[in-house]
Amino acid sequence: MPVHCVEHPLIRHKIGLMRGHDVTTKKFRELANELATLLTYEATKDLETETSTIQGWAGEVVVEKIKGKKITVVPILRAGLGMMDGVLNLIPSAKVSVVGLYRNEETLEPVRYYVKMTSNMEERIALILDPMLATGGTLVATIDLLKESGCQQIRGLFLVAAPEGLKRLEKAHPDVDVYVAAIDERLNDIGYILPGLGDAGDKIFGTK
Ligand code: URA
Repeated sequence: MPVHCVEHPLIRHKIGLMRGHDVTTKKFRELANELATLLTYEATKDLETETSTIQGWAGEVVVEKIKGKKITVVPILRAGLGMMDGVLNLIPSAKVSVVGLYRNEETLEPVRYYVKMTSNMEERIALILDPMLATGGTLVATIDLLKESGCQQIRGLFLVAAPEGLKRLEKAHPDVDVYVAAIDERLNDIGYILPGLGDAGDKIFGTK
């Protein structure tokens, strides 16, 4: 499974700012979206283009455009919404497919409570958004859903990943590409990433 830990001084700087204990909701939100934009740039580097000839200001000119159906962005509720604007800054015509899952406290299995995919999933590249790749349970279930809907090209964008989650993903879906701003040390005993960012959903939404 290709894991791209995207190396850039701006990424290291912005992740560092997000780790502070006193980061405000406003700042955390801004940084999550800025990092999502930078990850999107990397995750779309290999998209195919096709050429056409158009009338330019000084006559005919050959230009390129992205080939194929529009990308679909897949925020995992709720924290994934905190990266969506950053992605749409670069891909404003992307379609949005939303996935909501909760964990059944008895079985510990993810249960679907909201799923709304866009059309023609089999022809699109999906960019899954979730700030934290922790245990990987929700992510694996989201990829299962995307594959059930026919989607074959799936990439995931995360701000911070834990080695445990990456290992689980590799086992379940080795064909999925991962783009991440930081790979941290480990999970604690309640599934939080260390040193991590804390509860990213709470920080994005200002809840506690
Ligand atoms: N979800 C979070 O918001 N933070 C973590 O560290 C793990 C999962």
